[in-house]
Amino acid sequence: MTNEENQAWRTAMWDAISERYDRELDLRFRPAQEALLDRSGLGANQSVLDIGTGTGSVAIAASHAVGDGGDVTGIDVSDGMLRIADRRLIEETNIMFRKGSVEEIPAVDNAFDVVLASLVMMFVPDREAAAREIARVLKPGGRFVASVWGSPEECGLVKFQALAGSFAPEQPTPGIGPSALADPLPFQAQLLDAGVDTDVETEEFDIEFETFDLAWDTIATVTIGDLEPSGVAEAKRAVQDALWPNGEGPQTFRNVVRFIVENKG
Ligand SMILES: C[S@@+](CC[C@H](N)C(=O)[O-])C[C@H]1O[C@@H](n2cnc3c(N)ncnc32)[C@H](O)[C@@H]1O
Repeated sequence: MTNEENQAWRTAMWDAISERYDRELDLRFRPAQEALLDRSGLGANQSVLDIGTGTGSVAIAASHAVGDGGDVTGIDVSDGMLRIADRRLIEETNIMFRKGSVEEIPAVDNAFDVVLASLVMMFVPDREAAAREIARVLKPGGRFVASVWGSPEECGLVKFQALAGSFAPEQPTPGIGPSALADPLPFQAQLLDAGVDTDVETEEFDIEFETFDLAWDTIATVTIGDLEPSGVAEAKRAVQDALWPNGEGPQTFRNVVRFIVENKG
């Protein structure tokens, strides 16, 4: 598969899950999104970039924090996600959503006081290019803050996705997926090479699903890829047997999130 085909395959996956992301995941991810915003030190009149903005929650919260004198740009590779983000705008006039990838950020040099990347960098194929681009668009003295999932052992959600994904045909992009930055050191080294010095902070978040089917329909799609329907049934049974001990009841996943925070020290 060429790089373009590969990116198209992945973008189609984000498009396909965008409505469900809005309905089921966004609220469940809200505490982790807020913890990212807390670490960003946003203030009035700042210019902010939100990378992989998805359905726009982080960007919209940032637009309220920077006020009318500030501005927020949310970029994403998925038209489906961007359509929902646009639809959510009510009275915000200081925010713009546009198509773009972190490996080629559609912005001039030194454009932003703060660059945010909530739960996205582990899905980016070329993180070295991304690190260079993040450094390029940050103003001198600006701040980068990202959040990434921990390993399957540290994150119930990621363990569920990893087990589901183990039934899938090989994913077209090796080295990316929910737990690809459970060890954030290689990305931190790429950032440092580009001039962005970071520390890591860790927090845990609970995410509840009321039923196994809801959890499956919401989170398995990210890793099962093009699995045939007969394979899906087998994978579902195996994941339920292994990871859903309460029959049809609800389950809470405990999840480690790492925050990669630019060190201004
Ligand atoms: C797990 S969602 C996170 C969305 C949002 N930031 C949040 O916290 O809810 C990951 C998002 O990153 C986007 N994405 C994936 N690869 C990307 C890339 N290379 N450049 C920009 N966005 C990307 C996807 O389309 C998707 O909307």
